[in-house]
Amino acid sequence: MAEKQKLIEIKNLKQYFNVGKGNVIKAVDGLTFDIYKGETLGLVGESGCGKSTTGRTIIGLYKATEGEVLFNGVNVHAKKSAKELKTLKRKMQMIFQDPYASLNPRMTVADIIAEGIDIHGLAKTREERMQRVYELLETVGLNREHANRYPHEFSGGQRQRIGIARALAVEPEFIIADEPISALDVSIQAQVVNLMKKLQREKGLTYLFIAHDLSMVKYISDRIGVMYFGKMVELADADELYRNPIHPYTKALLSAIPLPDPETERTRQRIVYDRSQHNYKEGEELQFREITPGHFVLCSEAEYEKYKTMYT
Ligand SMILES: Nc1ncnc2c1ncn2[C@@H]1O[C@H](COP(=O)(O)OP(=O)(O)OP(=O)(O)O)[C@@H](O)[C@H]1O
Ligand SMILES: [Mg+2]
Repeated sequence: MAEKQKLIEIKNLKQYFNVGKGNVIKAVDGLTFDIYKGETLGLVGESGCGKSTTGRTIIGLYKATEGEVLFNGVNVHAKKSAKELKTLKRKMQMIFQDPYASLNPRMTVADIIAEGIDIHGLAKTREERMQRVYELLETVGLNREHANRYPHEFSGGQRQRIGIARALAVEPEFIIADEPISALDVSIQAQVVNLMKKLQREKGLTYLFIAHDLSMVKYISDRIGVMYFGKMVELADADELYRNPIHPYTKALLSAIPLPDPETERTRQRIVYDRSQHNYKEGEELQFREITPGHFVLCSEAEYEKYKTMYT
């Protein structure tokens, strides 16, 4: 990317859930990062670390407990007119993990795809509406004969294509894909990811791609953020993160990726992350610091000094 333009700015974003009896889950606990126009930012981390909550809060499905999200400079969570809100909703779309659960089984594919077109008045006539649906079906590798069928008549991969067509129908700028391929057969995963890449090139889309395994995410992402217990512990270019992981949690996560060669797979060492290895002092302030250009790590002052000498 020659000129990096910020599409999304996330500043100290927090999302806490009150779960009764004074208990609070800090699902998202102070995230600060940007997403650039036209890039794919991968978000990884183990189950429950707050990836989906981050996505939902960015898109405005949840009101943030603290912090802010700017989309093209517009504060997503600030009060705005119905018209402004509608435009914002159109520009940010979501693709979900489970293509089975996220499509209404009683609606035809045409009506599912055209829902956003109708809500936002993007087609003037019935003919124009159907024309858009046919185009969208072709864009995602389906065809017009599929328009009058129902979701149960399709395979998992095809349903995810329908979900993508539905998101594209309103011509969004930004798409959050929350584990869009996890429910699919491995053989189908690459097809859906390649479709997403192609659409990104053609339409200049920006993606936040949520995943909890690191193999496919490297393939699709320009940069990757690693989350651990509601915090981002590391953020870097995808290649850089794999070559030079710095945070011990990232190292542990990467060491768990299965290797293609059975012999190396059998003998490789898995790294276990132990939080106590940091030796943080009681109440010590951690900050997200830049170790090498564009490579950020959550660390203490002492770790920062150590990492800098090790990695620069
Ligand atoms: N609506 C909610 N109310 C209360 N707690 C919630 C809510 N949504 C999520 N949580 C909790 O917040 C934490 C983060 O959940 P989240 O779904 O964001 O994780 P995740 O990283 O997407 O996990 P997975 O990989 O399993 O999808 C978890 O402890 C979860 O139980
Ligand atoms: Mg999730």
